[in-house]
Amino acid sequence: MSGAEIVELCRRHTIFEWSAQGGVDPIPVAGAKGVYFWTPEGKQYLDFNSQLMCVNIGHGDPRVTEAIATQAAVLPYASPFMATEARARLSAKLAEITPGDIDVFFFTNGGADANENAIKIARAFTGRHKILARYRSYHGGTAGAMALTGDPRRWTTEPGMPGVVHVLDPHHGMGRPADSAEHALANLEEIIQLEGPNHIAAFFLETVSGTNGVLIPPDGYMQGVRDLCTKYGILMVCDEVMAGFGRTGEWFAINHWNVVPDLITMAKGLTSAYVPMGAVGMRRSIADSFKDRVFPSGLTYNSHTLAAATALATLRVYEEDDLINHARKMGKVMADQLGKLTAAHPIIGAARNIGLFGIVELTKDAKSKTPMAPFGGTSEEMKRLNGYFREEGLYTFVRWHTFFTNPPLCITEEQLRDGFAMIDRALTRLEQSMA
Ligand SMILES: Cc1ncc(COP(=O)(O)O)c(C=O)c1O
Repeated sequence: MSGAEIVELCRRHTIFEWSAQGGVDPIPVAGAKGVYFWTPEGKQYLDFNSQLMCVNIGHGDPRVTEAIATQAAVLPYASPFMATEARARLSAKLAEITPGDIDVFFFTNGGADANENAIKIARAFTGRHKILARYRSYHGGTAGAMALTGDPRRWTTEPGMPGVVHVLDPHHGMGRPADSAEHALANLEEIIQLEGPNHIAAFFLETVSGTNGVLIPPDGYMQGVRDLCTKYGILMVCDEVMAGFGRTGEWFAINHWNVVPDLITMAKGLTSAYVPMGAVGMRRSIADSFKDRVFPSGLTYNSHTLAAATALATLRVYEEDDLINHARKMGKVMADQLGKLTAAHPIIGAARNIGLFGIVELTKDAKSKTPMAPFGGTSEEMKRLNGYFREEGLYTFVRWHTFFTNPPLCITEEQLRDGFAMIDRALTRLEQSMA
């Protein structure tokens, strides 16, 4: 099929997520390799967002596609009541790489249902009902995960699951300095007191918030959250669906602060999205609480054999190619490139990265730091910029007044510099169009 035919049928018979359907303009994708993908007509794009921040190892790695084919030929599926070699090996491997004594896993279909199951586990383990989550967050599109989500995607789904209380992040946007760890923790403790510590089961937080702006917590914050959770018997749940698996230059982002959460949720980079899979990891003491009472959840595709084999092969690629260290090294190059870009373009109000997890925030006015698009919305300028990126042959995620720099972890320094050169030219065009 031609690109135009693919787009026409997809638009006619499928729904594109989080979008008014009349305005969607998808890129038709025919194939992908490494850090590139291309259309049926052969137009190539540098993938500066790893699709949806998930193809961490890069596209089309034969070590993974062959593992998928082999598993499909041997045993593509077994009931979650069975034990399989892929499930056995994957869980043991994850126990090795996840923080501290997290060494028991419940496998899911993706990130949202990993969080759904973490809610159930936290409530069952603590016997408490309330859940704390942050405003600048996204935890998934299913009912419970939507209720946890703090950003405007939650608004149209309300009233949602009862019992969720949102708290402020240390970060308050470009125009206002971030809170210190001490200040943010004092606010958090006040809310815990006001809500009744004995009623709170868990605090869910993205370790480094993703679509809400690559929000890197101030040093001391995560340790402080850990201490408050321990003090009040609240489970600390780190959502590492986007930040996990090397994105920040560590296996898990929480490792930057040497903290062990009680539950950790993951998806995306677990299989690099070659096959869908998510998981909730739990500390041994939490898993043990289900020895004599029923674990309150189930999924037909729990521990899916094909997905487990895919995850195992993916984890092997991270290790064989030393991708976690590579992401850390390339993160330094990215920081340098973001600094140069900021110096060259007054419309950049803020830019930051941790490993290969990066973002640029654009402003209409350098002094007032008015965002280039309103909170939760878009603008003609941001739409134009997206068009310029595409014309350059660069794909990245453009959201609100921001765009992301999240390439696959296998990107070379030269490819990274190429991407920033394309961004530089696109920003110059935007500035000229606004003059
Ligand atoms: C931090 C975070 N949590 C959860 C999810 C939901 O994952 P999924 O779309 O696989 O359900 C996402 C998806 O982007 C995410 O970024």
